[in-house]
Amino acid sequence: MPFSRAELKDAYARWATGVTIVTARADDRIHGMTVSAFTEVSLDPPLVLVCIDRASNTQPLIAQGGVFAVNILARDQEPLARRFASVEAEDRRFQDLHCETGVTGAPLLVGSIASLDCRLETAHEAGDHIIFIGAVVGLQVSGGEPLLFYDRRYLGSRS
Ligand SMILES: Cc1cc2nc3c(=O)[nH]c(=O)nc-3n(C[C@H](O)[C@H](O)[C@H](O)COP(=O)(O)O)c2cc1C
Repeated sequence: MPFSRAELKDAYARWATGVTIVTARADDRIHGMTVSAFTEVSLDPPLVLVCIDRASNTQPLIAQGGVFAVNILARDQEPLARRFASVEAEDRRFQDLHCETGVTGAPLLVGSIASLDCRLETAHEAGDHIIFIGAVVGLQVSGGEPLLFYDRRYLGSRS
């Protein structure tokens, strides 16, 4: 490669994004992780994608359960974004959290500015990540301002 891994990460960090928590369910197991690699794909049919690290704990749960939900975080939810990215907090990510259950069974985080409840359509291997494309089968949308992430920092958070 004509550039280092650190240079590549610096370039990726120049892309400003929103922040989501992607949740999954397989049988009675739930899990979730912070994800910025979320994109709308199609309106008709309604499709979205998320790029999930192969090595993450969430990845096999999405593959097994065949469902996921994308919870778009409000700007006061930075602590949740940190919690769902933390390895130390891995076993208590849902602790004291107000969740509803989508029609797919995936947890929907109350307080998110939108939640998209998805059934897995296809999974594509892409390097060290898997691209999961989901069909949106349920929606919750509420008001509020988004949490943003740029250059490894959260922007616009009140906390
Ligand atoms: C702002 C932010 C955005 C992130 N975006 C992604 C992403 O798009 N895809 C991904 O695989 N990991 C992403 N991560 C890293 C995961 O959240 C992190 O590795 C998490 O601990 C994985 O959890 P799990 O292994 O328990 O599933 C992001 C982390 C942060 C802080």
